[in-house]
Amino acid sequence: LIHPVILCGGSGTRLWPKSRKTKPKPFLPLVGERTLFEATLDRCADDAQFAAPIVVTGAAHLPHVSEQIAGSANASIIVEPEAKNTAAAIALAAARLPQEAVMLVCPSDHHIADVAAFREAAGKAAALAAQDWMVSFGITPDAPETGFGYIRRGDALEGGFKVDRFVEKPDLERAKAFLADGGYSWNGGIFAFRAGAFMDELRSHRPDIAEAVEAAVTKGREEGASFHPDAASFAMIDGESVDYAVMEKTARAAMVPVAMGWSDIGNFHALRDARTGDGEGNRVAGRVELVDCRNVLAESDGPRISVIGLEDVAVIVDGDEVLVTTMEGAQKVGKLGGASNQ
Ligand code: GDD
Ligand code: MG
Repeated sequence: LIHPVILCGGSGTRLWPKSRKTKPKPFLPLVGERTLFEATLDRCADDAQFAAPIVVTGAAHLPHVSEQIAGSANASIIVEPEAKNTAAAIALAAARLPQEAVMLVCPSDHHIADVAAFREAAGKAAALAAQDWMVSFGITPDAPETGFGYIRRGDALEGGFKVDRFVEKPDLERAKAFLADGGYSWNGGIFAFRAGAFMDELRSHRPDIAEAVEAAVTKGREEGASFHPDAASFAMIDGESVDYAVMEKTARAAMVPVAMGWSDIGNFHALRDARTGDGEGNRVAGRVELVDCRNVLAESDGPRISVIGLEDVAVIVDGDEVLVTTMEGAQKVGKLGGASNQ
């Protein structure tokens, strides 16, 4: 069985004012009725393929996790004393699992339309991980996004490919070159590792993180279904993402290409595209009236929104906040005063 390790740490400031400190992105039903976190649990809820999930999260998200995890049998939670990025978060789970266990690391804030394709790719990735490959899910890129990792396909393996090169968050010029090259995929941020192999790789590339995590686990304490790593040991960690700490450096990187309707819903542009539009491509929720509009995302939890003659804009009303942006501007929402001082 594959052990799902669900990472729940981000805040999603680019989806403000829908995403707030008090109700961050993973816990919102952004596409469909289930929240992104619930949908992540659902994808890994199949006794024939997956073991009980392990959620790694911080104290701030814990109340939401506890509430939304309720229906998930035997789930356990690792509560980070503070956020130290994904290398440490994954290592906490890896250090606690049997070293032969294969884990599937899943971000809790992505949308995946095709669950069957996800599960099929998970099976292929797990088979490669069992042979000590560090496996990522490869997504076909359609724009020179600078917020993703880029992986270059190498020789074929059973069910996937070796990765010749892993470049985390390149600048725009390099992202354009990778896209033009044709041999690159985006790193989907979903990984399969054998727990022991991950710890070995971390130990060789970032021994400081591996040792601090191991100490935090050894000195940690159980409390019902949750585990609390030792705060003093964890505080020593110099946080880095798994992409920089392990994936860029390992000689054992592999990838499984998958087309599964993946989106990280990084901003309102991506959110619009993840939803199904009406005949004019508009996506509306709540009290909204649109006249001569196309490809507009309009959503209100209260006051009525009325828009005439606009294209490719988002109008979001949430409580006492109103956001209006072009789709191009959507990436800058996190820089607004409202988003940073919520
Ligand atoms: N528990 C925990 N603790 N979770 C964390 C922490 C942490 O300190 N930091 C981040 N996470 C969670 C986030 O909530 C998210 O679900 C996941 O780990 C990935 O972190 P992001 O911060 O969203 O990473 P990113 O989007 O910048 O980049 C990663 O994902 C891209 C695909 O969406 C990288 O793996 C890229 O290479 C990749 O392309
Ligand atoms: Mg992300």
